Amino acid sequence: MTRDQSYQLVTSMLTNPNLVKHCLAVEAIMVEVCEYLQDKHPELSSQEFDKEEWGLVGLLHDADYEVTNKDLETHTDVIVGKLQELKESERLIKGILAHHSLKKPVRDNLMEKAIYCIDELAGLITACALVQPEKKLSSVTVESVMKKFKQSSFAAGAKREQIKASEEELGIPLEEFVRISLRAMQKISGQLGL
Ligand SMILES: [Fe+2]
Repeated sequence: MTRDQSYQLVTSMLTNPNLVKHCLAVEAIMVEVCEYLQDKHPELSSQEFDKEEWGLVGLLHDADYEVTNKDLETHTDVIVGKLQELKESERLIKGILAHHSLKKPVRDNLMEKAIYCIDELAGLITACALVQPEKKLSSVTVESVMKKFKQSSFAAGAKREQIKASEEELGIPLEEFVRISLRAMQKISGQLGL
């Protein structure tokens, strides 16, 4: 599946523009983190770091969030069914499942670990932008995200443990993870409307 086809699928399934933007944010961060980790792991096969695949996992991960009525029991069933019909790779499908620990509690590779941590950080960074007077990502700093990270009542839905798992699962210190992710989202701020 090409990136264009994936984008069409996502926008045909999601009516809430904020959910589409969330998928775009996670896609952008996945690509940035993929590049970062590839540099850090010259010993791993380049197949581990297929940027396009990492991006597709990010873009598609929440595609069925509305059609499954945000029901965590069924979330991912519909998108996975569609991808299986289209004979998409098991690696892509497992990557999508990996953001949902009810469906895939064990994460087997860096791409799966990345989507798990990135999903929640994208939400926290978006919330950080929305509390700025101009609601712009350009006003968000790594320091401000770190401060909000520590305030558990702020954007309480963004699971801090899952974000901080970047340290153990990806070997990326939290502050570095925030820096990479914020930069990725700032690059597409126009598309994110932030
Ligand atoms: Fe998500």
